[in-house]
Amino acid sequence: MTVPSLPDYTPELAAAMAPFYQRVKTVIPDIEWPFHAPYVAEINRLKRERNAVILAHNYQTPEIFHCVADIVGDSLALAQRAAESEADVIVLAGVHFMAETAKLLNPEKTVLIPDLRAGCSLAESITGADVRDLRERYPGVPVVTYVNTSAEVKAESDICCTSGNAVKIVESLGTDRVIFIPDEYLAKYVATQTDVEIIPWQGHCEVHERFTGDEIAHYREDYRGLEVIAHPECPPDVLSASDFVGSTAQMIDYVKTRRPERVLMLTECSMSDNVAAEVSDVEFVRPCNLCPHMKRITLEKIHAALETLSPRVEIDPAVSARARQAVERMLAVGR
Ligand code: 13P
Ligand code: SF4
Repeated sequence: MTVPSLPDYTPELAAAMAPFYQRVKTVIPDIEWPFHAPYVAEINRLKRERNAVILAHNYQTPEIFHCVADIVGDSLALAQRAAESEADVIVLAGVHFMAETAKLLNPEKTVLIPDLRAGCSLAESITGADVRDLRERYPGVPVVTYVNTSAEVKAESDICCTSGNAVKIVESLGTDRVIFIPDEYLAKYVATQTDVEIIPWQGHCEVHERFTGDEIAHYREDYRGLEVIAHPECPPDVLSASDFVGSTAQMIDYVKTRRPERVLMLTECSMSDNVAAEVSDVEFVRPCNLCPHMKRITLEKIHAALETLSPRVEIDPAVSARARQAVERMLAVGR
C-alpha cells in the first residue's frame, strides 16, 4: 500500500501547528519545522481516526517526543502504560523489545513498530538456549531478566526488571543468589546496592559502554559545578565517578526537581534535547552517543505505520504466555 502524500506547509497549517512548535522551538531550528509540521498534523489526525496511542521512549527525538507522543517514559513506564491502554492500536516509538512487551500485555490489540529493524545490542547478546544453559549451571537459582531482551528470553525467565526497579525486583525474590541477565554493567551496579549475590551475563549496551571515567574527569575540569548523572548501563568506573545513577525517567526527574546549574546526562543524546525543551534554567553539557536503533524511528515511518497499520509485532504463541508471566510478575512488584 502506498502512503498518501502529506498536506503542504501552508500558512493555515503553520498556524494550526504553531502550538506544537512552541514546545520544541529551543531544540529544533525554525528552518527544520516546515518538514516536521505536516507529519505532526497527519499523525495526530490518524491517531484519532484509528483510535491509536503513541508510546514513545525518552530517547526519541523531540518532534516525536513532544509533538505526537501520547505517553512518554522509561521502559517501565511504557510497560505499565501499555498494560492500561484502551486504544485499539498501539504504536511503539522505541525499539523492538519495547514493542514486544506492549504486545505481550495486549495480545488482542494491534501493536505497531515503525521500523522492525529497531533492535538493541543487549537483546542481541543472549538467546533462550543461553538461559537454559545458565539454569543447568546454577540449578535452583532464579533468573531476573532485564526487559531489554527478546520474548524468547523472557519466556525462560522467572521475572523481568528494568533499570528503574532492578534492585527491588532482585530483593523481592527472597533468595541469596540470582542470575541477572543480560547487562553486565547493570548487574554489577545492582550488586553494589544489595546483599544478594548477582551472577551476571556479558551483554553490553553499545551506547552506554562507550562512556569512560576519564571523559567525566575531563568534563569536570572544563565545566565548573557540573553535576554528572548516569544510566546504570554505563561501565562501573563511570558510575562511581557520577553524582547520581538512575533509569532514564529517574534521570529526568533529577534534573526537573533539583535544577542543577550545569548537568551532564550520561545516556543517549536525544534525552538532553527533550529535557532542555522543558527546562530553560539548566545548562546541558552534551557528549553525543546516539542509539542507532532508536534513531530508526522517524515521523515519516510513524506516519506510514499508522496509515498502513504495519509493521505489526507478532509473538510466537509457544513463548508468549511464559514471557507475559515474567513481565506481569515485574509489574506486580512495581517501581
Ligand atoms: P530505561 O528503562 O532507563 O528507559 O532504559 C532503556 C534503555 O534502553 C536504556 O538504554
Ligand atoms: Fe539498547 Fe543501548 Fe539502544 Fe537502549 S541505548 S535500546 S540498551 S542499544
